[in-house]
Amino acid sequence: MSAGMLPAPTGPASTSSLPTDRQVVLRAEGLSKCFGGLKAVNDVSFSVYAGEILAVIGPNGAGKTTLLNLLSGVHRPSAGRLSLLGRDVTQSGMEARCHAGLGRAFQIVRPFGEMTVRENVTVGALFGKPGMRLPQARELAHSLLERTGLSAHAERPAHELTLLQDKRMEVARALATQPQVLLLDEVMAGLRPAEAQEAMALVRSVRESGVSVLFIEHIMPVVRDLADRVVVMDQGQVMAEGTYREVTANPLVVAAYLGSEPELGSGPVEAGQVRA
Ligand SMILES: Nc1ncnc2c1ncn2[C@@H]1O[C@H](COP(=O)(O)OP(=O)(O)OP(=O)(O)O)[C@@H](O)[C@H]1O
Ligand SMILES: [Mg+2]
Repeated sequence: MSAGMLPAPTGPASTSSLPTDRQVVLRAEGLSKCFGGLKAVNDVSFSVYAGEILAVIGPNGAGKTTLLNLLSGVHRPSAGRLSLLGRDVTQSGMEARCHAGLGRAFQIVRPFGEMTVRENVTVGALFGKPGMRLPQARELAHSLLERTGLSAHAERPAHELTLLQDKRMEVARALATQPQVLLLDEVMAGLRPAEAQEAMALVRSVRESGVSVLFIEHIMPVVRDLADRVVVMDQGQVMAEGTYREVTANPLVVAAYLGSEPELGSGPVEAGQVRA
């Protein structure tokens, strides 16, 4: 274990059969967020391990996006703490967290529409690391545009992109900040099956480059094919945690979220059609 890394948590027994002796890169402990009387996130604890792809699933309104907002610093928690690569970042803002290694793509893509795709990704690179100079940022943007299949569209204004291209650019912008952990909020939503496959290949390549990924997703075959581990949220709380197989066999998860979908998890990725 390298300096600065947290040990594996020793809290309540995990329901997962996966090993938990890997480095923790992100650790939430008792995170809560209240909006008035509503506990949108209520005492949530979990870890993201080095090199893993973790899915967060759950019904609409379960608190998934609010949780991502707590992780990325959009919201400050009402209670709890968050550590990133062993550093307490509970009170840090978005920019500080980004500099500390947290990258984020939003559920609703928000590019700078009049800027070109290349400029959008370059801005991400400049924002991500203090001291990054323009030539370096341009070079990084260039390689990320290639990696995300956007080179042919680099000089187009961002508002001209298709949904898939938009999502690719959002991932490229987040990667340009050089994160250790990448947070993705429903990046597969609205994609056709072949496009979802492409997007999944991109997420796998991100992990292969050493970046841990936490993604929110409703499309269950995507979760099945992509996630090493799954956290299930319901009514602001973690209802279950484990492998895809474990959580989809959990009667609580079936009752709260999955229902009695007979083909669940057995078919190919059919975006839109297989939303839980
Ligand atoms: N800024 C806010 N102010 C007040 N209530 C909010 C705010 N953001 C979210 N909520 C409420 O918090 C709860 C959790 O919302 P959240 O968007 O986190 O759910 P979600 O799991 O991401 O849902 P979905 O799957 O539909 O994206 C909901 O009841 C929502 O209405
Ligand atoms: Mg959401």
